[in-house]
Amino acid sequence: MTGDPPPSSPHDPGAEHALRIERRWASVAVLIVIFLIVMAAVAGVHQATMPQLKLELVDPRTLHVSGEFIESNLGTAVEPDGSVTVRAIGQQYSFVPQCIVVPTDTVVHFRATSGDVVHGFLIDGTNLNTMLIPGFISTATARFSTPIESHMPCHEYCGVGHEGMWGKVKVIDKAAFEKLAADRRRLTCVD
Ligand code: CUA
Repeated sequence: MTGDPPPSSPHDPGAEHALRIERRWASVAVLIVIFLIVMAAVAGVHQATMPQLKLELVDPRTLHVSGEFIESNLGTAVEPDGSVTVRAIGQQYSFVPQCIVVPTDTVVHFRATSGDVVHGFLIDGTNLNTMLIPGFISTATARFSTPIESHMPCHEYCGVGHEGMWGKVKVIDKAAFEKLAADRRRLTCVD
């Protein structure tokens, strides 16, 4: 036996130092949790969560028969305020429309839902990423600054044909889009 105090003694300067470091890191962990809670709250208030917290319901059994998502209403529509609204549905195993066309430098509202099971809705190269859930309308807003052509793969496993389920998004110059929109109610780039 020696005269040294046991390492866990509260008077051990080494143990006290360790305790201080531990408290410091514990407060860092608490601050991170608080930051995440604040971030979730802000995203909720600004409706930036995907899927949205605000629920809009739709009957998946009658999508093709009546309402906002009938086939003749799908595609890109020009709104009176100058923005455009894209309406689309996901179903095993395709998107309708298969090719979405939108203008540059314009606020684009996406409204989409599923006719059967959960699908993913994601535009490659952008942060637009949500789920299509039967019974709910998923919404997202975007603005594209440059013309791009992007893929839109389904990224939620939805059955045996999942890997073959994808669409295309073409962002075209605003002037070219306006020319196309002049004589059409709904636009797509389906050949
Ligand atoms: Cu639709 Cu995976």
